[in-house]
Amino acid sequence: MNIGIDIEEVKRFNKYIKDKEYLRRIFSKEEIFYSLPKKNAAQHLAVRFAAKEAVWKALIAKNKKLTVIDVSIQNDWDGKPQVYIKNKKYKKIDVSLSHTDKYVVAVAIVF
Ligand SMILES: CC(C)(COP(=O)(O)OP(=O)(O)OC[C@H]1O[C@@H](n2cnc3c(N)ncnc32)[C@H](O)[C@@H]1OP(=O)(O)O)[C@@H](O)C(=O)NCCC(=O)NCCS
Repeated sequence: MNIGIDIEEVKRFNKYIKDKEYLRRIFSKEEIFYSLPKKNAAQHLAVRFAAKEAVWKALIAKNKKLTVIDVSIQNDWDGKPQVYIKNKKYKKIDVSLSHTDKYVVAVAIVF
């Protein structure tokens, strides 16, 4: 089992909201579709970025080569975030996300 964690400041992501090119480089269309319409869009984007970093940390020990756009965090029907890698649901990784106005945090565990 491996674990990864990441914390990010939300304010960094406030300016990215309007930068469509940046968003497309970092986030999947599902992540953008989920986050952008929300009142606190920057928090949802920031926490997805943190989750990608956490997944990367958890997987690096397994020698998985990943870029930020390879990892997509998508919520299932009850809101639980799921990890997709290269468009495929990765059932052996669990992530948990939390956000406030200022900070977001994400933890990933690889079984
Ligand atoms: C879902 C819930 C946990 C979210 O908590 P919150 O403090 O409002 O918000 P947080 O910022 O900590 O967490 C938000 C994230 O929780 C995650 N989440 C939502 N539903 C979830 C679920 N069913 N399972 C796991 N994670 C979930 C999502 O990733 C969400 O972020 P996202 O929308 O950007 O993807 C909360 O609304 C809830 O229902 N709590 C239950 C309270 C309770 O029964 N407490 C008793 C404890 S024993």
